[in-house]
Amino acid sequence: MNAGLVCALLALAAPRDVHTLSNLEAVRPVHLSLDLALDFEARRIRGTNELTLSYAAEAAPAFLDLDTRELTIRRVTDAASGQALGFALGVPVEYLGQRLRIDLAGQRPAKVRIEYETSPGASALQWLEPRQTSGRLPFLLTQSQAIHARSFVPCADSPGARVSYDATVRVPAGMQVVMSADHGTHEPERGIFRFHLDQAIPPYLIALAAGEIAFQALGPRTGVYAEPALLEAAASEFRDVEKMVEIAERLYGRYRWGRWDTIVLPPSFPYGGMENPRLTFATPTLIAGDRSLVNVMAHELAHSWSGNLVTNATWSDFWLNEGFTSYIENRIIEELSGADLAAMERILAQQELRREVAQLERTRPADTALVLDLEGRDPDEGTTAVAYQKGANLLFLLERHFGRDRFDAFLRGYFDRHAFTSMTTPRFLEILKRDLFQDDARTWSELRVEEWVYRPGIPSNLDVPESRAYRDAKAAAQAFAGTGALPEAAARWVTAEWLLFLNELPGRLAAAQMQALDARFALTRSGNSEILSAWLEKAIRADYTAAYPALEAFLTRMGRRKFLRPLYTALDEHPRTRELARRIYSRARPAYHPIAVATVDMILKWTPRGPGQGDGSTGSRVSRAPSTWAGSPPFPPPGGPPSSTGTTRSSATLRRDARHLLRTPRV
Ligand code: BES
Ligand code: ZN
Repeated sequence: MNAGLVCALLALAAPRDVHTLSNLEAVRPVHLSLDLALDFEARRIRGTNELTLSYAAEAAPAFLDLDTRELTIRRVTDAASGQALGFALGVPVEYLGQRLRIDLAGQRPAKVRIEYETSPGASALQWLEPRQTSGRLPFLLTQSQAIHARSFVPCADSPGARVSYDATVRVPAGMQVVMSADHGTHEPERGIFRFHLDQAIPPYLIALAAGEIAFQALGPRTGVYAEPALLEAAASEFRDVEKMVEIAERLYGRYRWGRWDTIVLPPSFPYGGMENPRLTFATPTLIAGDRSLVNVMAHELAHSWSGNLVTNATWSDFWLNEGFTSYIENRIIEELSGADLAAMERILAQQELRREVAQLERTRPADTALVLDLEGRDPDEGTTAVAYQKGANLLFLLERHFGRDRFDAFLRGYFDRHAFTSMTTPRFLEILKRDLFQDDARTWSELRVEEWVYRPGIPSNLDVPESRAYRDAKAAAQAFAGTGALPEAAARWVTAEWLLFLNELPGRLAAAQMQALDARFALTRSGNSEILSAWLEKAIRADYTAAYPALEAFLTRMGRRKFLRPLYTALDEHPRTRELARRIYSRARPAYHPIAVATVDMILKWTPRGPGQGDGSTGSRVSRAPSTWAGSPPFPPPGGPPSSTGTTRSSATLRRDARHLLRTPRV
């Protein structure tokens, strides 16, 4: 047997997750029972986690090892007898946190109970003051993917170690709590909320939000939560979601999670969306007024099959989550809004992929393969357009070759047969070869599947979709760049056409050209966050100062990393705008999520209170602009940044954690 084959067999037998310090091969939690009290003053969760354990062998392992990060462990007991168990926290390991080693004393306890407390800097938690929300109460939101769950729940924090869970959450009376779980009996007047999720999920899908939260039903099994000020706009934007579930079910089989609700979070939420089961977490920047950004909702729904039902077993297999999901997202959009829009979105995604691959080729070429080597690295380094769009394009290629009927049937069967399990890439390829290729080795090599998966770069058999709208947008961009002819058809363009047009313009326009477009189409006042972000990036490069008040308003009103990264990067590139970047950031930083802070600190090489930092009070070129983004709450409030930076981790920690984020421009 050759060495390659031996390695492949080993990988199939026991995928090793290099991002867990747990000993899940010997003993693993299968159910977590949480009792959590949220202390908004101290910015801490205090509580207990009772873990039900499953043992691999008859003999008791010496220890139960779990993942933690910045947790204080008060006490560990055998839940049945109440007997105290010895425990110790290991030294902090870069990116991974600390191993909690519990001495099982030669026993095989069915359940252990851990009393613990989180730290104010917990990477999964963002504690918001009322002024960072649109309501009157403080707010807590969690974001656990990829390996942040360990900072609020001691667990085996590996996507291959599935658990069911239940939770009792205690909050000040008057607050609501939602989780990625089914609702149990709540006692809101006493501030007690109960949840349970009976399906087994990876720990990164445990999620919680607490604050002033209202609900509106959208369909029989869909609805939207939001702060009251945003509820109506959110409900109107997302009114198609029930239809999306029906479409996805027709394509990929029954929706297995009961309800699909969405919570629109305060604007500091650093992602577009997060697929927490039964409850997608979403940024308010999706609210464009015309439902043109609901592809993100289609994406998060798609994870109900790819990601939540069949989960990447390790973060090196991340493309199994995001590549499949981006493919399914596009199929849902095609059914919902037509083939023209789906093709435009595919082209935008391919443009993004090419940009990303070109950049990674300069910095980390190996990361342009689908399977990543993340040993010694933060798994968030894998969140590039490669996993999403190279992954999706492999599936588009298979679809084109085998035809939709066969490919859809394959995917349906795959999700069904492997539901509630975690999947490695080698195992997936084995299933693909057997079930779709019928073991036809010739076709397998003709389609170059292994090249797609294991080799860097974009294979030449990428399928580029036909799109008349794209050709028109490109021609319009060329005409404008050449002769200054305004794209008159643009009055009827949808968001995707605008983005295609803006992408096809030269990298740097003259300020006068920007002015001409703006005078005709009012792009600086766009209420569409995607168009506005693309436009503002161009404005910075063109030194089109008329857009700077809108730029400042945008950057201080939301904290979505996808928009912060390109805008601060463009501002930092030129000496002319560098000071402006720092001034805006000094106002905005206290309200950004730790993940966003880490990203922007890196871009601006920011050291808070260090030498040479502007405090935002001098050199102002830009007045505070009125809101141009419909329905947005002030963020942060007029009058300057909140003084507290209590949730933000130390700058050194943030910078260390964020080094890679500069290279990972996906979300
Ligand atoms: N699961 C991801 C977000 C994520 C990935 C968080 C990795 C942390 C680590 C989510 O489904 C996602 O991809 N969101 C995108 C949506 C888009 C691709 C349509 C986003 O936030 O922009
Ligand atoms: Zn995703």
